[in-house]
Amino acid sequence: MTMNQLTDKVAIVTGGANGIGYATAAVFLREGARVMLVDNDGERLKQAATDLSSDAVRYCVADVSRSSEVKRYVEDTLAAFGGIDVFFNNAGIEGTVSPLVDYPEDTFDRIVAVNIKGVWLGCQHVLPRMNTGGSVIITSSVAGLRGFAGLGAYVASKHAEVGIMRVAALEHADRSIRVNSVHPGPVDTQMMRHIERQLSADRPEAAKEGFEAQIPLSRYAAADEIADLVLFLASDASKYITGDTHVIDGGMIA
Ligand code: NAI
Repeated sequence: MTMNQLTDKVAIVTGGANGIGYATAAVFLREGARVMLVDNDGERLKQAATDLSSDAVRYCVADVSRSSEVKRYVEDTLAAFGGIDVFFNNAGIEGTVSPLVDYPEDTFDRIVAVNIKGVWLGCQHVLPRMNTGGSVIITSSVAGLRGFAGLGAYVASKHAEVGIMRVAALEHADRSIRVNSVHPGPVDTQMMRHIERQLSADRPEAAKEGFEAQIPLSRYAAADEIADLVLFLASDASKYITGDTHVIDGGMIA
């Protein structure tokens, strides 16, 4: 394991209170970054910042779907650390499992607000303030590259994130700012627990087994396995990689 891959870098991690965001913040800190954790779950966020037990971590309670709150986490980061080098644009929600024709409109609207508008606003407000040579990583999903019956709004939102990634990469390459997306298959976080319970309230473990049967490596990813890919894309080890989709799914969509 190489250490200090992010020495002197400043990183923002949205959705940092749990799951993939939290695991990635821990890896970024280990590699020498200073980290601003952003999440709308204030209580859990405060606990997460405490658990990371580092002088190099700050947090900002913000809903990524509201531009005033996005502006606030950007300003708080600049005030705390003086610049931004890495932006892990990761916060997202899964919504409801339902056929497209029955999909509840209010849930659709909330998914669009968090997953599409949240990622969009993050790019809009962070990119102009980023240091030359910076890196943006968006957490899409395998659901951003193929369909899953019952997850229509989520699938649509995760495809849209790829579009945002591609345009942001083209528009910022002249400042050597790179933008990429990561596409995990199922990851062992609370999000998969919600999906499993919706698919099978009585036997969520049966839903889990159903997903695992579709994965050649026969298991979910651990959040820190996703964090290792995000670290690669955040660091100078990937300095010629931009505008691309990076699948990490145990072979699920091979
Ligand atoms: P998680 O539920 O453990 O963490 C997501 C975090 O985002 C939570 O702390 C939540 O409070 C926060 N969040 C939700 N809405 C927010 C908002 N409006 N403003 C600020 N923060 C908000 O889920 P996980 O698994 O860590 O998900 C992270 C990203 O990874 C999401 O974009 C998700 O779609 C994506 N993903 C997850 C997969 C999985 O199997 N868990 C697979 C593929 C992608």
